[in-house]
Amino acid sequence: MSPTKNKLNKKSKMPFNINRKSILGVLSLVYQEIIDSFLTKTKIKKPKELEVLELVKKKAIKNNPNSILKIIDDYAYKSTFLMNIGDQKGEILDKAIKDSRATNILELGVYLGYSTIRILSNMMDNSKLTSIEANEKFAQIAKEHIEISGLSKNHILKIGKSSDLIPSLEEQYDFVFIDHWKDLYLKDLQLLEEFGLLKQGAWVFADNVVLFNLEDYLDYVRSSPDFKSEFIPTMREYSKSHPDGVEISKYKL
Ligand SMILES: C[S@@+](CC[C@H](N)C(=O)[O-])C[C@H]1O[C@@H](n2cnc3c(N)ncnc32)[C@H](O)[C@@H]1O
Repeated sequence: MSPTKNKLNKKSKMPFNINRKSILGVLSLVYQEIIDSFLTKTKIKKPKELEVLELVKKKAIKNNPNSILKIIDDYAYKSTFLMNIGDQKGEILDKAIKDSRATNILELGVYLGYSTIRILSNMMDNSKLTSIEANEKFAQIAKEHIEISGLSKNHILKIGKSSDLIPSLEEQYDFVFIDHWKDLYLKDLQLLEEFGLLKQGAWVFADNVVLFNLEDYLDYVRSSPDFKSEFIPTMREYSKSHPDGVEISKYKL
């Protein structure tokens, strides 16, 4: 897929209809989460994340990352929503990783390792990825998925909260993928800047900027003289009707 790129004004006010439509997108997710959590609590089914791991263990082809991504995408389309970047926006991420030719990549928010596997599949052989995930259970599932994919060689998974771990990072990054809790995007970007962790020319790729209406983050990257920012409109993961978008901001170009 070749995404349509739209340069937006520096000011981040989203058109009203996009905000309104994104509310439906968020509500549909909340509804699916409530149903799933009820079924899990009443022991009618296992947590969806464990169901996915079981399917991957049973059906994935070892050392074949695409077979794992397909199993996860099929589950999210046919069973229950999963908060991965998904196949459509995933292709935008794949292209950004390739185009950036990044050698040292940081990922905030791993969940089941879906985006991690996409990044590892598309980065150059000599590149390295460090991922941060706060939830230990999700991190363990991601680790198993990444091992099955055969891509764990150039990957470091750190378990803990981004705000605790970012100050302890010692290298500079030339690509940061931000996809953890939405109220932390701006804080953590500023933390990365404060600790001098962004290389000159670094790409910062932020997911879900429309779905969750991340105006404070967008205002910041679009008005800061240190970033050149570009918006790519798309649909929410696993949806054909709920608008979303990603923001790619380049640091001190
Ligand atoms: C949207 S999911 C990540 C999806 C993943 N990037 C993908 O596309 O496959 C968000 C993840 O961020 C994690 N998270 C939330 N707050 C965090 C924090 N402060 N530090 C690290 N991880 C966090 C959550 O536990 C969750 O697994």
